[in-house]
Amino acid sequence: MFRKKPILAISSLLILTLSLVGCGGKPAATTEKEVKPIIVKFAHVVTPDTPKGQAALKFKELAEQKTNGKVIVEVYPSSQLYGDKEELEAAQSGNVQIIAPSVTKLVGLNPKFQYTDLPFLFPNNEAVYKFFASDEMKGLMNSLDKYNLQGLAVWPNGFKQFTNNKRPLVTPEDFKGLKFRTQAGKVLEAQFKALGAGSATIAFGETYAALQQGTVDGQENTYNNIDTQKYQEIQKYLTVSNHGRLDYMIIVNKDFWSGLAPDIRKALDDSMAEATKFSVEQAELLDKKSMDNLKKSGKIQFTELTPAQLGVFQETMKPVYAQFESVLSKELIDAAIKAGKK
Ligand code: LMR
Repeated sequence: MFRKKPILAISSLLILTLSLVGCGGKPAATTEKEVKPIIVKFAHVVTPDTPKGQAALKFKELAEQKTNGKVIVEVYPSSQLYGDKEELEAAQSGNVQIIAPSVTKLVGLNPKFQYTDLPFLFPNNEAVYKFFASDEMKGLMNSLDKYNLQGLAVWPNGFKQFTNNKRPLVTPEDFKGLKFRTQAGKVLEAQFKALGAGSATIAFGETYAALQQGTVDGQENTYNNIDTQKYQEIQKYLTVSNHGRLDYMIIVNKDFWSGLAPDIRKALDDSMAEATKFSVEQAELLDKKSMDNLKKSGKIQFTELTPAQLGVFQETMKPVYAQFESVLSKELIDAAIKAGKK
């Protein structure tokens, strides 16, 4: 015990001397003029081969290029750094600078973000993009300010489809007695209740195991998330329903963002604008690619609904609108519906 100390002291001295001497016996070059890069941590929960994963990497490439390396973006995919629950707190406290949760997961900060879960709200991608550009979306973004968060952009993923392990889901009756995984919030819970099914909120990173172990029978997600999470290995049936949306709010820690020097901030804003355009292309491309992959895999049986069968689902799930009108506001719902009209 006592002997260790002098040995430690000698070895520390040696290390110090060696590092001071450096090459050529001179002290290591001083680094006064070297400015340390600003490290921007960008954490998300999906794999790199998703629209969000690809757009995050694009943002990294652009941000480092446009700032000549003054900014280094470290992207952490697949819940490596934080999962669903932790990433919001980490962004608020500044432990991570950028996150990109699905808008549903912001329900705890503002329940209006659940607009995205109203069944059959948007008829197509164009309606969704129109809503992204609306004043209502600006209002939703601004509502994050008081949490020391700032919404920078919205990135799309796609429309959700139902999968499960018990039977093909052709009519609402087929949902009875089944339990589905949801991302968060009461709207999704009400949606499954309207179908006679149960639900449980489970973090994205834990969903594969929950499906495999039978904690839940099914889930709803985009083709690309189903494909990249390999749910086809543990889910037998997929119903093409396009009943809900999955899109992301890109969120930064507000103190961090507003504390950046103007030239750096501009470079990052420009990079985000370009990455956002890229995210739209990727979302459309990968949605189609994953749908084809899933079909080709032969592991998951596709059920395509006729317009009449889809109409039955729409009618069954319609009561969810009235149930949440006071939470979401009529103005917000109307604006989203209007985005879908020509
Ligand atoms: C989910 O939890 O299903 C999604 O929000 C995951 C994601 O980020 O796409």
